[in-house]
Amino acid sequence: MSERILLVDDDDLIRTVVAERLKRRGYEVCTARSLAEARASLKGTQPDAALLDIRLPDGDGTELLEELTGEGDVPCVMITAHATIESAVEALKKGAEDYLEKPFSLDRLEATLAATLERTKLRREVRALRKASGVRGGVIGASPAMREVLDLVERVAPAETATVLLLGETGTGKGVMARLIHDLSPRAERPFVSVTCSALAETLMESELFGHEKGAFTDARTLKRGLVEVAAGGTLFLDEIGELSLGLQSKLLGFIEDRTFRRVGGTDDLKADVRVIAATNRRLEDEVAAGRFRQDLFYRLRVLPIELPPLRHRRSDVPLLAETFVQRFNQEFGKRIDGLDPEVLALLDAYPWPGNVRELSNVLERAVLLTEGSEIGVEALPPEVRGAAEKDENLGPYTLGPSGIDLEELERELLMEALRRSEGNRTEAGRLLGLSRHQIRNRLKKYGVEP
Ligand SMILES: Nc1ncnc2c1ncn2[C@@H]1O[C@H](COP(=O)(O)OP(=O)(O)OP(=O)(O)O)[C@@H](O)[C@H]1O
Ligand SMILES: [Mg+2]
Repeated sequence: MSERILLVDDDDLIRTVVAERLKRRGYEVCTARSLAEARASLKGTQPDAALLDIRLPDGDGTELLEELTGEGDVPCVMITAHATIESAVEALKKGAEDYLEKPFSLDRLEATLAATLERTKLRREVRALRKASGVRGGVIGASPAMREVLDLVERVAPAETATVLLLGETGTGKGVMARLIHDLSPRAERPFVSVTCSALAETLMESELFGHEKGAFTDARTLKRGLVEVAAGGTLFLDEIGELSLGLQSKLLGFIEDRTFRRVGGTDDLKADVRVIAATNRRLEDEVAAGRFRQDLFYRLRVLPIELPPLRHRRSDVPLLAETFVQRFNQEFGKRIDGLDPEVLALLDAYPWPGNVRELSNVLERAVLLTEGSEIGVEALPPEVRGAAEKDENLGPYTLGPSGIDLEELERELLMEALRRSEGNRTEAGRLLGLSRHQIRNRLKKYGVEP
């Protein structure tokens, strides 16, 4: 299939000559002489690449550039007269692939266009491959829920000064995700400094974070730089932020707001260019309500929250994670296990994983250690996991307690549980409940659940 090129230029000669040449080379060309015409031609179809003049009768080609690269991921090459070369550089910053300075030869144009198309194709292939394998920087997640998280992470990581708040139950991977954000950011080559806020008493924590001047207190024999200075240019990861004392919360807020701080015992306002990533497994709203967490800091942190779903809400990740952990522990302990008994997989699938990925990793570490053969069997699993299936069976049939139940409430809850387990797949949810897709849809409507 030939590639579609959108050519936007108000110069009739350029439009005719370029279009003719490109058509002869087998491209499909669509031309426009203004922003309005270009937008009209974009309705319904997407080009594979666009050539955009900067100065147009009804505006600036860079406006169109933003629309094209933003939504459609269409690569753009700017066409510019000498007078607008600065805007061409500006356009590169805004995502243009390249620019051509007028007058240009048709050969040059062709080469630039071909290179742009090739680069875009490669980039898309790499992205697709990375997505398909479900692994990004050591973080595993192929379930729809984790894909959403990873997409969000990929979008926020490049905003290198944006503060990020990671939320999620224990063991859901907040630590690995903080590292991934750093690794995907322009700060990847700079330090990643991690500190656990619960580990130290308030005064020690303050000097750990912000440092102290010589003589600030009895033991302060020398000047000490704080972690904010160590992390300068890089990322500071504040783990278990919910445990930070109220006094330090206000100092941290001050630091996040203008990146200035004072060492303990110091009088100078110092600056450190640090990206802050915070994490907690507590519900910060509750902490705020209980007066243990400053509301202003909460609002400041909550600008970019990323919630990591518990493992029981993304069960399709379990086999992939299990496989990876088995391989990892194989290497670590010099074992040659090449798989899991199907019964083991079924148990891993049924178990609710209150400790999330960390618990799964621990269970498999133990199982690998206990296994002599080439396959992990049921007996290598700890009792609580082995019991998962039994408990499942013991659940039914339901009994009506002395005070009765709210049947609709129960139905609604089971419906939601089935949807979570099937990750939103209605056919699968229907299978779990013995209902057709149609019946599921009716019940969703009945309970006013968004599809
Ligand atoms: N998506 C994932 N892919 C691979 N490994 C993961 C993933 N999520 C978590 N892990 C592993 O699980 C363990 C726990 O992860 P991590 O320490 O990041 O959890 P956490 O959310 O910070 O938990 P806590 O709140 O208890 O600190 C780590 O060993 C980590 O490598
Ligand atoms: Mg952690």
